Amino acid sequence: MNKILKGVLLAGGTGSRLNPLTQITNKHLLPVYDKPMVHYALETLRAVGIVDVLLVSGRGHAGHFLDLLGSGKEFGLRLSYEVQEEAGGIAQALGLAKDFSRGQNIAVILGDNIFMRSDELRDGIAGFADAQRGARLFLKRVPDASRFGVAEIQRENIVSIEEKPKNPKSDLAVTGFYAYDASVFDIIKTLQPSGRGELEITDVNNHYIQNGIMTHRIIEGEWTDAGTFDSLLRASCLVAEQKTS
Ligand code: DAU
Repeated sequence: MNKILKGVLLAGGTGSRLNPLTQITNKHLLPVYDKPMVHYALETLRAVGIVDVLLVSGRGHAGHFLDLLGSGKEFGLRLSYEVQEEAGGIAQALGLAKDFSRGQNIAVILGDNIFMRSDELRDGIAGFADAQRGARLFLKRVPDASRFGVAEIQRENIVSIEEKPKNPKSDLAVTGFYAYDASVFDIIKTLQPSGRGELEITDVNNHYIQNGIMTHRIIEGEWTDAGTFDSLLRASCLVAEQKTS
C-alpha cells in the first residue's frame, strides 16, 4: 500500500538573531518578499504531496499562526497545532509530534527554510512513507558551511554531521527538510541538551548514521534559511528573482 507521509512544520524558537524584528512577533511571520515566511514551508510540504501537517510554534505567538493559517484549507492542507512551551531546540519541538505521527514515518521542515525547487524533495521522499526504517537528509553545497550542520561523506555515505563546525569537513550543508521513521521519538527521549542548551536535530541524525540507516540526497535547486539578516534578505531576493524570471 502507498501511504502518504505526514508533515511536521517547526516554527518555534526565539528568532534572537533577527532582533529587534522578532521582539514582538515570530520569525516565521516576517515577510519574505510578498508573503509571510511560514507560507513557503507550507507550500513546499503541499508540493511534495503532503496533506496532514502539524505546525509546532512557541507559546507567545501560537494564536497568530491560527489567525493567519486557520484550518490550512487555503493551502490544500489539514493543519493541526502544537505549542512548544520553551525554545528547547529543534529535536524537542519535533518530539511534540509523537501523537500526531501515530507510529508512521514523517517528513519535517524547518519554518525558516526556503526551497526554490520542490520536485527534488518530492522525488527524494518518494516511497519513504513505506520504508521499513531509517532517515533521509537533503544536502546542499554552500559557500558558508560553518553556519549549518555539515555532512562528512565517505564512499557516498554520510559518516558524521557536525553542527556549525569552525572548520567544516565539506561544503555540504544539512538543509531543514528531513524524513524519519517512527523510532525518531525514542531517539529524542535519549538526548541530552547541547552546549547551547538545546536538544539538537544533529544528534538525532548522528544516531541514525551510527546505526547505518541514514540516506541522503544532494539538491541542486537554490535553498536558503532565513534566520539572519543576510539570509532573510537573500530569501526575499531568491523569491523575487524567480517571480520575474
Ligand atoms: O537551516 C538548516 C539548519 O537549521 C541546519 O543546517 C542545522 O543543522 C540545524 O541545527 C538548524 O540550524 P539553526 O541554528 O539555524 O536553527 P534555528 O535555531 O534557527 O532553528 C531553525 C528552525 O527550527 C526555526 O525556524 C524554528 C525551529 N525551532 C527551533 C528551535 C531552536 C523550533 O521549532 N523550536 C526550537 O526550540
